[in-house]
Amino acid sequence: MSVARNLLLAASTNAWLRDRAMQARFVKRSVARFMPGERIDDAMSAALRQQSEGIGSILAHLGENVTTRGEAEAVTQHYLDVLDRLGASSLDAQVSIKPTQLGLDLDRDVCQQNVQRLVDRAAELRTLLWIDMENARYVDATLDLFRRMRRRSPFVGLALQACLYRTERDVESLLPLGAALRLVKGAYLEPARIAYPKKTDVDQNYYRLASRILGEHHRSGALLHIATHDPALIDRLSALINGVEIPSTAYEFAMLYGIQVPLQHRLVAAGRRVRVLISYGEYWFPWYLRRLAERPANVWFVVKQLFV
Ligand code: FDA
Repeated sequence: MSVARNLLLAASTNAWLRDRAMQARFVKRSVARFMPGERIDDAMSAALRQQSEGIGSILAHLGENVTTRGEAEAVTQHYLDVLDRLGASSLDAQVSIKPTQLGLDLDRDVCQQNVQRLVDRAAELRTLLWIDMENARYVDATLDLFRRMRRRSPFVGLALQACLYRTERDVESLLPLGAALRLVKGAYLEPARIAYPKKTDVDQNYYRLASRILGEHHRSGALLHIATHDPALIDRLSALINGVEIPSTAYEFAMLYGIQVPLQHRLVAAGRRVRVLISYGEYWFPWYLRRLAERPANVWFVVKQLFV
């Protein structure tokens, strides 16, 4: 992986940098490219616009690694309100949560209780609640959380990262559940001991895992989110989907707000189901640096904002 990517990912966890960057106007201007605004109303308006273009949404309130139970409770309450608002609207939108934003670092039981409340509310509304995968030290706890939630409700899905060697094993153990899965490449800085250091190997593993999941979900009726902006992978997987006639209910393409927008529209025009994740909230720094790391050329875009 590139030096720039590693530097940006290391910077994403630096509190000193975070406090300064979040005040800088030019940084705030460049963040607007990846999020419609900090408020839930901004995200819901963007979701409405997307719906008019044939694109579904996933809403994610930015934040991670909360340090008090009070914060975890406030996030839970926020998401309960969001689910209620979605239930009362005709928006085609789901919610995606991060376990460390709901208390995983503090106490696994507290986190589980919080996620359980959200899973139960999502089940009442018959909408999927997604659980993000954070950095590798949380994978075991997140899988455990997901399995418990899956026993309560079919309306819960899990993100898995193709960059990790272990994911192949995790996929095999999860397939019998027939659960909704979201396959991503992985946004965190991980050591070569546990993750493919070369991008080409991550891409190859992504294709292998997505094909395996699609083959199995094809039979079980479960959903795969093909969550990537990579046009080459999307083409290869589209060819596979067409070749073995995988039903359109078995997969959706998923992308992030503001990234590969023309490709999102091309997929919709080709009759594919597309869902775009919209992030919102004030705690955007680590998430934003992960977006820059995915494409270090984006840093020039930030620099240009200094001069507008
Ligand atoms: P890659 O990084 O190879 O990008 C392919 C192409 O897409 C690039 O060449 C570029 O053109 C464009 N592109 C990608 N990122 C860009 C950016 N930031 N700015 C501009 N262009 C860009 N990760 C994780 O660890 N846990 C999770 O739970 C999730 N959840 C999640 C949900 C959804 C819906 C998506 C789409 C992604 C995630 N991710 C994630 C992030 C994921 O792991 C990964 O970091 C990004 O999707 C970038 O990887 P790509 O698959 O797009 O490929």
